[in-house]
Amino acid sequence: MKALVIHGPNLNMLGTREPEHYGKLTLADIDGRIHELASELGMEAECFQSNSESEIIERIQRGGCDCIIINPAAFTHTSVAIRDALLATGAPSIEVHLSNIHKREEFRRHSYVAGVALGQISGFGAESYMLALRAASAHLKAR
Ligand code: DQA
Repeated sequence: MKALVIHGPNLNMLGTREPEHYGKLTLADIDGRIHELASELGMEAECFQSNSESEIIERIQRGGCDCIIINPAAFTHTSVAIRDALLATGAPSIEVHLSNIHKREEFRRHSYVAGVALGQISGFGAESYMLALRAASAHLKAR
């Protein structure tokens, strides 16, 4: 079972970027934890980060995974194209956010991805990704 974990724009800046919202861990720290948990769960994880909407769409289209865990970052609130790419793959997806997007500015409350994802996990910092990985593992095992 392979999970593709996609990190959207500006998440390469984690560690120094607005730590009050996103915490102090770097993306490399988070990816390390994702790989550790994936092997505990008997899964494989591939982590992919891009600041480019087209690269994210192209990675989704290439597939080769059983599920997609995606933090679309700012594209959450703007991208019909990422939503359509997720729909087109047919792989189940889980939307993740480090911060609680419902507790912040009004424009962050709307997600184009939420309506095509199995669910959304928001507000638990790096732990949001771990919860998503556990949810993906349970979902795939139950199929
Ligand atoms: C984010 C929330 C988004 O609103 C924001 O644009 C991000 C990060 C989060 O993980 O909390 O870049 O997706």
